[in-house]
Amino acid sequence: MAEIWIEKYRPRTFEEVKGQESIVKRVKAMVESGNLPHMLFAGPAGVGKSTLALVVARALFGEEFHRNFLELNASDDRGINVIRETIKDFAKVKGLGVPFKVIFLDEADALTREAQQALRRTMETYSSSTRFVLSCNYSSKILDPILSRCTLFRFQPLKEEHFDELLETIKEREGLEVDDSAKVALFSLSNGDVRKYENILQSCSSVDKKITEDLVYEIVSAAKPKEVKEVISLALKGGFVGARDLLLKTMLKHGLSGTDVIKQIQQEVLDLEIDDRKKVKLVKDCGEIEFRLVEGSDEFVQLCSLLALFSEEC
Ligand SMILES: Nc1ncnc2c1ncn2[C@@H]1O[C@H](COP(=O)(O)OP(=O)(O)O)[C@@H](O)[C@H]1O
Ligand SMILES: [Mg+2]
Repeated sequence: MAEIWIEKYRPRTFEEVKGQESIVKRVKAMVESGNLPHMLFAGPAGVGKSTLALVVARALFGEEFHRNFLELNASDDRGINVIRETIKDFAKVKGLGVPFKVIFLDEADALTREAQQALRRTMETYSSSTRFVLSCNYSSKILDPILSRCTLFRFQPLKEEHFDELLETIKEREGLEVDDSAKVALFSLSNGDVRKYENILQSCSSVDKKITEDLVYEIVSAAKPKEVKEVISLALKGGFVGARDLLLKTMLKHGLSGTDVIKQIQQEVLDLEIDDRKKVKLVKDCGEIEFRLVEGSDEFVQLCSLLALFSEEC
């Protein structure tokens, strides 16, 4: 099978990472000084958090970095104990010729409070021989004792100019033709998320090397997760906690941003079989939350407050 583009076009050096300039500069300086703190990379999906962790590993350890670099996903269904065991096995063998090993724990905000407490103890136990890089979408979901041990870096959605550069590279290497209107659609649908952008583009290109706006929309509407509908129906039945948990899981799994979700929720509300007055109220709630998201509030907090409004409504 042909290579997946998000890997094919993943930056391998600090210089190749687009945007996030001040973060890249600071992290690079830390790596060069040999004095690396524990770090927390926070920000929306597909903006370079995992990529930067891998760049750090390569800069510290070279191409054979996997010997000294462990990558884990906190939303691993097997739970925190498996994660801790894996960390223990990895950390207890000292790195050969390196001052410390690096453990990258992705989606740390998927861990429960208890699991985060356990993680904090693990970080303490191995802090002389390892450095942790944690990544999360929402730093508000990370416990203070972990936050206080890490240097926090807040990643931003990438800008249009970065997507334009990326598109030029990909177009050339893959032999694509992309209409101007398709380019606009790709950018607006991906909300600053490069993973999403590259995935949509690759799906389009598997259908046709000439990419039009219509093709982009056709591909994207097929990718809408059905779980969002379930989140709404749970919330409307008053199952706030269940709705919130499913929402978080769905957002992490599909790499959805807050605005992605809100747009889809609004769409689904219109299709609900409830009376019109209620519908109007729910659509208004969506609008209010959308506005707060655009103003830069914490996405997950805002979406939860929307679900709370929905739960009250029933
Ligand atoms: N800042 C960036 N510069 C260039 N490519 C990027 C950037 N951020 C993400 N990408 C592309 O998107 C893919 C997913 O990015 P990743 O770093 O895994 O996102 P996340 O922030 O969710 O960890 C990468 O493999 C790469 O192809
Ligand atoms: Mg990641």
